[in-house]
Amino acid sequence: MKELIQKLCEISGPSGYENNIREAIKKEVTPYADSIEVDPLGNLMVRKGKKTEGGLRILISAHMDEIGVIVTHVEKTGFVRFGNLGAAFPWYLPASRVLFLNGTRGVINSEPREDNTKVSTIDQSYIDVGASSPEDCPVKIGDVGVFERPFMDMGTRVASKAMDNRSSCAVLIETLRQLKKSPHELVFLFSVQEEVGIRGAVTASYAIDPDLGIAVDVTSVGDTPSAKQMEVGLGKGAAIKIRDSGMLCDPRVVRWMRETAEKASIPHQMEILRQGSTDAYVIQTSRSGVPTGAISIPCRYVHSPSEVVDVKDLESSVQLLLKLIGGPVQLK
Ligand code: CO
Ligand code: ZN
Repeated sequence: MKELIQKLCEISGPSGYENNIREAIKKEVTPYADSIEVDPLGNLMVRKGKKTEGGLRILISAHMDEIGVIVTHVEKTGFVRFGNLGAAFPWYLPASRVLFLNGTRGVINSEPREDNTKVSTIDQSYIDVGASSPEDCPVKIGDVGVFERPFMDMGTRVASKAMDNRSSCAVLIETLRQLKKSPHELVFLFSVQEEVGIRGAVTASYAIDPDLGIAVDVTSVGDTPSAKQMEVGLGKGAAIKIRDSGMLCDPRVVRWMRETAEKASIPHQMEILRQGSTDAYVIQTSRSGVPTGAISIPCRYVHSPSEVVDVKDLESSVQLLLKLIGGPVQLK
């Protein structure tokens, strides 16, 4: 599992530029898929199984894009001004390194800094790519990049710039790999453009037209020294979402997930996230509405270049998904 997470995390795939990560995931899932399709937006849809009696069409979604930067302007002096692709928080930017899709690397700094107690804005920041003029600058307006930081193995905990959401992509791949049989028609969706406003899952869920939806994504935690009060913590299992700022999960789906986890003694915890949402938000309101829930991977330092997850939580999430989709579903 660790190797798979590392492999997926190290690929650059900012929102709207998911080609490389899509190809890598395609390679991983091909041996286990009945069919694979890429839609006009770039969503990867992996189908497995047919509906048998009492079976449903179940959509299981994880976004594959990551936050990044986009060049807005190159100064006369060769410094690169940039905007964000997704919520790149300004307090994580100084001294971060950027890898552009064309291979260019750079360092972020910000000026002016009269007051060291204040965080600089993105507008006060720039990327130094080693250029001294627009002519010798290896990037131009519209070029995109991601944060660069090597994958780090801390035992059961691992750190990377793209745990959001490659850790969930790994969970979906591993679930597909371990799945023996299911009465359902399963569609594993690796969606695009979640970080810029949950866009890929909109068109994909319309096309898939599911009877039931499950999104897998990371969630924040409340177990760091001065964190805001929150139940979720690292290493305590798959987090079953009750609500976030985008949606109220279908209570029947929440109950089904909770009871399934309890019955199978799968480590789990209940999640309420005050800020942020997932693909589940748009799956739920697709077409005439879809009963939808979400499984979250607890993650520290979300949207930083060093997001930390616990591999045990990913394993619990795989076990829970296998139980959920491996048998008949009765929502009550
Ligand atoms: Co995110
Ligand atoms: Zn995410």
